[in-house]
Amino acid sequence: MRKYLLLAALFLIHFSAAATEGMWLPHLLTNLNEKEMKGMGMKISAADIYSVNKGSLKDAIVSFGGFCTGEIISSQGLLLTNHHCGYSSIQKHSSVQNNYLENGFWSRNRGEELPNPGLFATFIVRIESVTKQALQGVTAQMTERERQSVIDKNLQTIRSGLKKETYQDVVIKPFFEGNQYFLFVTETYKDIRLVGAPPSSIGKFGADTDNWMWPRHTGDFSLFRIYAGKDNKPAEYSKDNVPLNPKHFLPISLDGVAENDFTMVFGFPGRTSEYLPSEALKLTVEGQDPAKVGMRDAALKVIDGFMRKDEQIKIQYAAKFASTANAWKKWIGEMQGVRSTGGIDRKLKYEERFRQLATPAQRSVLDSLNSLYKASAPFAVARDYYQELIRNVEMLDFADDAITMLQQPNAKEEYETLKQQYLEKMESLYKNYNNNVDREVATALLDIYFKEVPSNKIGGEAYQIWMETNKDGKTTATKMYSQSAFTSFEKLSAFFNRPFDTVSREVWTDPATRLLIGLRNGYVEHVSDPYSAFLPDMARLQRAYMQAQMDVLKGRRFYPDANSTLRITYGKVNGYTPRDAVEYGISTTLDGVMEKYKPGDYEFDVPEKLRTLYEQKDYGPYGAKGKMPVCFIASNHTTGGNSGSPALDAYGNLIGLNFDRTWEGTMSDINYDASICRNIMVDIRYVLFLIDKFAGAKHLVDEMKLVHPKRKKTSTQLRKKAA
Ligand code: ARG
Ligand code: ASP
Repeated sequence: MRKYLLLAALFLIHFSAAATEGMWLPHLLTNLNEKEMKGMGMKISAADIYSVNKGSLKDAIVSFGGFCTGEIISSQGLLLTNHHCGYSSIQKHSSVQNNYLENGFWSRNRGEELPNPGLFATFIVRIESVTKQALQGVTAQMTERERQSVIDKNLQTIRSGLKKETYQDVVIKPFFEGNQYFLFVTETYKDIRLVGAPPSSIGKFGADTDNWMWPRHTGDFSLFRIYAGKDNKPAEYSKDNVPLNPKHFLPISLDGVAENDFTMVFGFPGRTSEYLPSEALKLTVEGQDPAKVGMRDAALKVIDGFMRKDEQIKIQYAAKFASTANAWKKWIGEMQGVRSTGGIDRKLKYEERFRQLATPAQRSVLDSLNSLYKASAPFAVARDYYQELIRNVEMLDFADDAITMLQQPNAKEEYETLKQQYLEKMESLYKNYNNNVDREVATALLDIYFKEVPSNKIGGEAYQIWMETNKDGKTTATKMYSQSAFTSFEKLSAFFNRPFDTVSREVWTDPATRLLIGLRNGYVEHVSDPYSAFLPDMARLQRAYMQAQMDVLKGRRFYPDANSTLRITYGKVNGYTPRDAVEYGISTTLDGVMEKYKPGDYEFDVPEKLRTLYEQKDYGPYGAKGKMPVCFIASNHTTGGNSGSPALDAYGNLIGLNFDRTWEGTMSDINYDASICRNIMVDIRYVLFLIDKFAGAKHLVDEMKLVHPKRKKTSTQLRKKAA
């Protein structure tokens, strides 16, 4: 017994999460976090962050379109989020005459604010635990399918019995791998208008070169406004809608940040996997990441070469390049971060300790789960190769869509409609498509695919084609890109604008569809079907392992993996040491923007107006000690989806806008390490300076509530001292 306690104590010392690790559910803070948060410097209470009965910080936070976070910063529904979150809205309003991406956009009054059909903002009204009801009648003997069908019925019962207003929605989600369930009552506003955005040379300054990097100098913000019906409730777009009067909006601190300041980030993190077994971590960083990175390395190199030579291609491929490069660069950082912090070793040690404290049954859960990951690994990697191939070679993706359409059960009867929809989609895709670029990408990627994926996971049909073309990507691609109907929209529409029977007979002889269908059949039979067969057991064991970790490590606080639900994370403003002899400071200034300035460069150009303001040091009330602050970092545990989330000070005032993480720490999704994981935020003073001084939109700043919490504190302290 003594030995057991000692082990348990040792375990907790070694393996309790660092104070800054975790994405916590806001309604559970009182029990789990409040004390620690106050110890770290928080000056408000858990009830000020989340409360059902009175306005609290959570009432100022929205899920922005389901993919980012936004926050309310005025009593008139003004919403702040990232430039990269508003990007597609800004793009849709842009034209050659009014190029808002290039020049920025600033509405001078409400009438000029631009509607964005399809965009929405969702508030969380309240959160409830429904674990007991959700899992009622579930037994350990059930198959995954039986279990899910019992749960689905239970959730239906919960939903229909729930008291809520007609304009509210309810979302129920599994947490901790399905061991717990929480319910969210939400309110979704659908009339969201664009208010302002800086030019991309500010909002995307540094573009892909600086993406995921520190020191950073990006003014990554944009402004929207939520409109409501006359009753302040959610309403479809109407020109008669009025600005939302929110339950709470965030005051903005002009006092900036200092080393060791307490910070919180409140938002909707998308997905993390912090409780995987060691074999899964290995698979990620030694199998899947290298496969995906290898494919994208090759694709990006080709596209970059074309973009640098050809202006038209640069415009066509800019958005695709950015999205391909974003994940590619993150995976590279993830592999490096796990390696440099000894992440796999740490996981192995964690499992060793777990085994020492666990029961034989709990141990066997972990062992089976690890074996399962090991057995499934070759399928998981082959799956990634296939998906990267189809994703990056657009002609194969186009062919995939065509085959899917033609194979629909009602394809013959509905051909006219289906064809119409398909061609419409293709027409817009071909606008940003270049046959030469795609051919070179295909050449490179087919070579990698057939070299890296074992032939028994490719299948005979595709291998046959590969042999016909001398097992050579270039020969395969040359044939395909000279003979296929998919080489241009004109050819494609001529091909499909014929009777269904002709099309579905001839489509098989087109070299693009022929290759695609060969690859696809082989993939389904040899990769995706066998891989899917692992999934139910994996889900069951991962759930059991999660519960076992929570049972065995009683003293550790567990936070659920991110799943796009509202979370709070807290940390401190701190620099870090990424490598031997390198130390990173906490913040950047406009001086750094000017150091990076490259006239005419598409990533590092600086608008003239900003250069003038810099020369004149015309920073208004937003500068500090003669400098203009731009970005800062802290140890908040964030992930994709946290973009646009507010960074808050100890009082809940807005001090920054989260938009990225540092490269060394992108592994935080699978292996958070407090020593190097940092989130990157735009300093709110830079945002205000840009709105006021750069854009001349002071009327927007006038809507906001600006505060000086540090000044106030010093004056009361002074008074106390004097007394
Ligand atoms: N890395 C950030 C995130 O994951 C920003 C991405 C947008 N910027 C870019 N250069 N692609 O979303
Ligand atoms: N840039 C990410 C986002 O868009 C944030 C991150 O991954 O840190 O949500």
